[in-house]
Order: sequence, then structure tokens, then C-alpha cells
Amino acid sequence: MAAFLLKFSFFFLTPLLFPGSSAAARSGATFTFKNNCPYTVWPGTLSGNGVAVLGGGGFELPTNASTSFWAPPGWSGRFWARTRCLFGSSSNSGTCATGDCGGVLRCAVGGAPPVTLAEFTLGGGSGGAGNDFYDVSLVDGYNVGIGVQPSAVATSGNCRFAGCVADVNARCPAELRVAAKSGDTVACRSACEAFGAREYCCTGDHGLPATCGPTSYSQLFKAACPAAYSYAYDDATSTFTCAAGTTDYLITFCPSAADGQSKSYPARAETDIINTHAP
Ligand SMILES: *[C@@H]1O[C@H](CO)[C@@H](O)[C@H](O)[C@H]1NC(C)=O
Repeated sequence: MAAFLLKFSFFFLTPLLFPGSSAAARSGATFTFKNNCPYTVWPGTLSGNGVAVLGGGGFELPTNASTSFWAPPGWSGRFWARTRCLFGSSSNSGTCATGDCGGVLRCAVGGAPPVTLAEFTLGGGSGGAGNDFYDVSLVDGYNVGIGVQPSAVATSGNCRFAGCVADVNARCPAELRVAAKSGDTVACRSACEAFGAREYCCTGDHGLPATCGPTSYSQLFKAACPAAYSYAYDDATSTFTCAAGTTDYLITFCPSAADGQSKSYPARAETDIINTHAP
């Protein structure tokens, strides 16, 4: 782990100390990224509101590696995995077969579809209270399975595992498939992206929740990933909520069925040293 972190010389190591306070003094959340895939992924991060850039915008995460970043209260943004990237050893430039963000390691824009997204809006801004909202979305298609596990699972309600355990690439219909030169399926397009039709994109006369229901394609995604957004108005079963400041989040690429069982894990101690990155 230590050797792994040394690669990221652009991170500032920031001790999160709350002197003289008890366990209740938490704010923001720690995101831990774990790569369960049998291949390296290059997570991309994008802050939607400019509060903080996490992980420099993008980093390499080999099989079985994990790394953590703290995000301040009110942070919002998204995470995704890039695959089959080629970056120069000392440069920011290079390209990825999926999820590419304009040919750079450290993303300043989102990943190119098809890409699985984990989306967060943390509560606890200047008001100090509120909820964290999160989801995993296949609205822009799918490239890698993503699971989001809160450290503090609620016994009731919606503070629990979100995401996708099934391998959608393996079930992707031929007309949505994105193949690498080798012939492997590396991503699965959304029906909206593939066909551009209003009933798939929820636009035009299908622009309202009442006029844009599930389609045979979104149902295929939903069957594979019940705890993920399968189309734009799939809100009822796809948005998750935890009380702000009560939980950290584990983001697993290629989660196993056991990862999807929604069980708690130990939150980071306040005195842990967590790497973060100043914009
Ligand atoms: C990753 O971890 C699993 C489970 O411990 C192990 O079987 C596998 O060999 C590891 N893979 C690599 C590339 O380290």
C-alpha cells in the first residue's frame, strides 16, 4: 500500500485530526476505491461543483489495490473506471479503450460513454446536516461493474449497497456491443446512445417520467443490475441515501456477489492519514 501511494507524488498527505473531540465529530466522507477486476483500471473522478478534486482527477489502480480520498461536506461528483489505457510513464497523456476523458490521466471532463458511473452528492454543507445521495448509473451505458457500499448500513431505508454485480458485457445484445480489436466485449452501449430514439433517451414527447417508461433494453440492464439506474427516470429503485457525516463509502470495481450483500465495514478512524488533493 505504501509503495503504491508513493507513485502519487502530487497528493498532499493530510492528517484528519479533530483535536479534543469525540467520535461524533465527522464531516464529509472518505471514498475508498478497490479494484476487484482481474485487470488494471484507471479510475476517473470529476467534481460537479468544484469543491475539491479527488485523486488528482484520475489515477492507476492495479488488481487488488485500494486507495482512499477524503471529500469535504457538500462535495458532488462522479467516479468511473477506464480500461485498457496506455499512458506514458511520466506524462499525463494517453488513451483508454473505455471511459477516456480526452486523452489524459488526470480528468477534467467526464468519461466517454459507454461508461458505468457512480454519482454522489454529499450533504452536510454549510448547514452541517442533510443527506448524502448516491447512485450507480447505466444511463450512459456500461463498461465495468461498480458497487457502492456505505460503511454504516442502515437497518431500514435506503443507506445500502448500490450498483451492479453482474457482468453486463457478457449479456450485452450484439447491437449494443463495443468490442476491442481482440474481439472481447469491452463495453455495452445504452439504447439511447446506440439508436438516439426519444423513447430510449426520454426526450421530446417522451420527456417526462410519465411518458418515458422502461424499454426492453433498459429491462435487460435492470435485470442484470437491480440496484443501478437503467434509464433516465428509473429513480424509484436507484437512488440511495445516507445521513450526511455518518458514513464512508467503498467503491468496488468488479464487485463480487459477496460485495453486493450490503454489509457494514469499519469507517475510517478520524486520526487515519488520508491522502487528498488540493485543486
Ligand atoms: C488478487 O486477490 C485474490 C484474492 O486474494 C488472489 O486470488 C489473486 O491472485 C490476486 N491477484 C493479483 C493480481 O494479485
